[in-house]
Amino acid sequence: MAQMSHEIVLRSPTDAEFSRFVAPLSIAFGEEVSDAAIENDRRTIELDRFIGALDGDSVVGCAGAYTFRLTVPGGEVGAAGITAVGVLPSHRRRGILRQMMTWLFAQARERQEPVAILWASEAAIYQRFGYGPGTLQTQFDAVKDKIRFARPVESAGRVRILGLDEAVERFPPIYEAIRRSTPGAVTRSEARWRWELLADAEWMRHGNGAKVLALLEDDGHARGYVIYRTRSEWDSLGPKGVVTVMEVSALDAAAEQALWEWIFGIDLIGSVRGWRGPAPHPLQLMVTEPRRLGTTLTDGTWLRIIDLPAALASRAYRGPGNLVIELTDEFCPWNAGRWQLSVPGKDGGGSAVVARAPSTAEPDLVLDISDLAAVYLGAFRFADLVRAGRVRESRPGALAAADALFSTVRAPSNATMF
Ligand SMILES: CC(C)(COP(=O)(O)OP(=O)(O)OC[C@H]1O[C@@H](n2cnc3c(N)ncnc32)[C@H](O)[C@@H]1OP(=O)(O)O)[C@@H](O)C(=O)NCCC(=O)NCCS
Repeated sequence: MAQMSHEIVLRSPTDAEFSRFVAPLSIAFGEEVSDAAIENDRRTIELDRFIGALDGDSVVGCAGAYTFRLTVPGGEVGAAGITAVGVLPSHRRRGILRQMMTWLFAQARERQEPVAILWASEAAIYQRFGYGPGTLQTQFDAVKDKIRFARPVESAGRVRILGLDEAVERFPPIYEAIRRSTPGAVTRSEARWRWELLADAEWMRHGNGAKVLALLEDDGHARGYVIYRTRSEWDSLGPKGVVTVMEVSALDAAAEQALWEWIFGIDLIGSVRGWRGPAPHPLQLMVTEPRRLGTTLTDGTWLRIIDLPAALASRAYRGPGNLVIELTDEFCPWNAGRWQLSVPGKDGGGSAVVARAPSTAEPDLVLDISDLAAVYLGAFRFADLVRAGRVRESRPGALAAADALFSTVRAPSNATMF
């Protein structure tokens, strides 16, 4: 087989070149990407953060990054949201993704984004680049007839179905209030709201019915919203439609239950499915038969710490405390070595100091950068990583102290696909 004779060059497309630069995706993913879908991507993708891998004149791979603010415990950080990654089968396993990832991380560093996040088609691809499981997600597939709510909810207002323009006005402030207190959640641009989350083009439907945008209001005050679709299905016994819930966002517990009760009450449906929910999912504590939700727990967004001191100093800890970690980081060697995290006062919120540890300081924990990603937002504890054989406690008692320092109130979760 002929070797690749010339080197692969990475560069960003011009506006006119964009569709040619994303073309590898339809072959890499084995699905038709319509012109309308490409036009949509063009509205959200940032050209200077998008690259094609060129073999001569041919675009053989591509990848990009969105500019996000990512909520972390007690604060937020700039994050590169890696997206649209694909390499043609003719060019796979020659290091093109490695080259693109190097470029994307270098750009994130220039832009002072301490972390990168992504949704993985296959997690094995990214673990070798130092990504760890930053959030977990629950999915469920519930038989409607089996679901009863255990406790009645106080009156939470009425649900109203909105058109696109009103939803673009009313939904984002609700989301933004929740985003700020949910580690793992990201900011959403207006273009993402209008052209992706709330949009309902034919090519987005995949055999489902129209996207429904419904707002829960109490005395004119918005308390939450739901975005869902229904797929109509019938058999000889009657209707058994499927509701797929893309998102439920509610400002308080009563509103959350009211929205779920409303969804489970929709006519002509047999089952309700949900994706990208938090783990654990609040529904598990709301219904009488949680097993009947048919919940599965999987990895959510993967997270890569690119700038260790900046990332660690951006989140809050339950101080006071000190932790010395010995880190390996093959892909971003500037993070490797021994670091000291010092959290001064009680609940030292955001004021942690991260510095190279003095040579006399013995490490408390020995771990890889991908393991730190797993505890960074609170998806896992160091104890989980020790149990899985991924982290070594080198000073007795260090594990419990580290977990106390990193403990968080709210489980991390990300409802935004990108
Ligand atoms: C995943 C994909 C982008 C990898 O591109 P690539 O150019 O072949 O990757 P590279 O050659 O740079 O591989 C880098 C490393 O990751 C490994 N790797 C790449 N894809 C992998 C996969 N699917 N599973 C396990 N390991 C993988 C390679 O073996 C290589 O390891 P090494 O450095 O130890 O040799 C490409 O196979 C593809 O387009 N797949 C289909 C679309 C897809 O899944 N995209 C990702 C969307 S999130």
